[in-house]
Amino acid sequence: MQRSLIRPESYVRLVRVVRSSVALFALVVGACVRPSAAPVVSPSPAATAPVASAPAAGVAARQAAVVPNPNAPKVLVIATGGTIAGVQDAPGTLGSYRAGTLTAEQITASVPELARYARIETEQFSNVASTLVTPEMWVKLAKRINVVLQRGDLAGVVVTHGTDRLEETAFFLYLTVRSNKPVVVVGAQRPATGISPDGPINLLGAVRTAASPKAVHKGVMVVMDDRILSARESRKLYQRTGGFDTGDMGMLGVVASQGPEFFFAPVRRFGERSEFDLERVDTLPKVELTMSYPGGTGQTFTTNPKGVVVATTGMTAAENATYRALRQTGVVVVTSFTSGENVNGGGGGGDGPPPPARTDTTARRDSVARPVVAPVPPNVVAQHLTATKARILLMVALTKTNDPREVQRIFNEY
Ligand code: SIN
Repeated sequence: MQRSLIRPESYVRLVRVVRSSVALFALVVGACVRPSAAPVVSPSPAATAPVASAPAAGVAARQAAVVPNPNAPKVLVIATGGTIAGVQDAPGTLGSYRAGTLTAEQITASVPELARYARIETEQFSNVASTLVTPEMWVKLAKRINVVLQRGDLAGVVVTHGTDRLEETAFFLYLTVRSNKPVVVVGAQRPATGISPDGPINLLGAVRTAASPKAVHKGVMVVMDDRILSARESRKLYQRTGGFDTGDMGMLGVVASQGPEFFFAPVRRFGERSEFDLERVDTLPKVELTMSYPGGTGQTFTTNPKGVVVATTGMTAAENATYRALRQTGVVVVTSFTSGENVNGGGGGGDGPPPPARTDTTARRDSVARPVVAPVPPNVVAQHLTATKARILLMVALTKTNDPREVQRIFNEY
């Protein structure tokens, strides 16, 4: 038998060369494939222009090859904008692009394979870079989805969205869509006209998930890069494909070649069990977000917030004093680990009812007569939520109550 002439050291060298080439390629792509600095607010004229003749010809050929399934479940694709609808000045390059340009119809038409798995309907909610998405838009979008999901003929909804603020919108929908039908939020990190766009494959995975009976009772999900993530935990970790992930918990399954496969399901409150009714809500209570850091003294606000979230692993004495004073004025203060991974200190998040909230008081139990000082309302602790998501849960919770004990109950359940 002839022995290989390649020695082990050569393999090691080869692996090093391949690794550094991949890293260099990723750097170049990361540097080039970024949205243009100024986001496009409204659909540009390019929205109706043909994107490029070569891709269009490719789409036509694929369209001819797909046999639509007339019995497939109906899925509504609601488009909001983002890179998944992004168009470059020079298509087919690594050049900059305008997010939120293609319409819902154009995005779905560019993936004829969708027709194998779903009968697609489209709706244009907005067409913006996601940095322009506001809490008022979350409310409108959630209300719209709550309405359409009442349709008996609709299996699920897909929301296309810019990735910059995708995790926030998805989490808001997770808390406020009161249906067990699947809602899937999807984006792309490369524009539709770019080299190897990820939008089409992500959209296909999202539609297959929204159409699947397996996705019922799984809450709002984010489907990117064939991963099915719970919206409660999904995060944008970096600006490349594969950049969406969850922390220690939250990946529910994958979109396999045969279709979505689930291995886990969320158990906290969402969907039909959500208590949050947006019927009479148009704007959300103001909640500020701030960081604690060594030497910090805590932040004061001129915006008159109803709630404040502090990202912290432990506050300085001065920060403690500042937020204690804030709580005394009726502002609900929530603390959350910056990593979003901490689960301790939520008070009763597991078995049984929460223990009595710890309140600070200077009232003494001795016989000396002293002025009684009102107890300071307790601090609320977030469990396994990033500070950004804790802010959203607090905004939603404050539509129901501003009692910190009740807010803690909500943080323990959702
Ligand atoms: C956006 O968030 O609208 C732009 C970036 C992206 O979609 O990846």
